[in-house]
Amino acid sequence: MTASKPELYRDLARELAALLAGEPDRIANAANMSGLIYHGLPDLNWAGFYFRQGAELVLGPFQGKPACVRIPIGRGVCGTAAARAATVLVPDVHDFPGHIACDAASRSELVVPLVEAGEVLGVLDLDSPLPGRFDEVDREGCERLVALFVDHHGR
Ligand code: SME
Repeated sequence: MTASKPELYRDLARELAALLAGEPDRIANAANMSGLIYHGLPDLNWAGFYFRQGAELVLGPFQGKPACVRIPIGRGVCGTAAARAATVLVPDVHDFPGHIACDAASRSELVVPLVEAGEVLGVLDLDSPLPGRFDEVDREGCERLVALFVDHHGR
């Protein structure tokens, strides 16, 4: 039987907690988290991290095609989520002015900022080739996964 989407996110949260447990290396954990998400959620063509360095986001561990390395804060979907320190859900990237097309196949996008004590550490970016792929369950589920990561790696 196919698990419901909330159940899927509960399972992913449990698996992520197990992957993070006892491992302090942020790059290793981000790499495993992007692999967990990319292979655990259906209909994605990219899943990964950008980490903030000053006024830019710099590409971190990911699964998918090679992507743009540096995104100014405020630019594209990722830079917008970082500037707002809030999740941005884009049902159709063609309707988002300034969307940065790393892979022309991407049609919808969900970007969750990594926020600790008001400071944006980076973003988790998920892309899908399907328009309207992400909904509120995805938003809540991914925010919970990011919270596990930030709690683990917060300074
Ligand atoms: N589309 C993103 C850029 C990152 S790639 O999708 C991996 C954006 O507009 O910020």
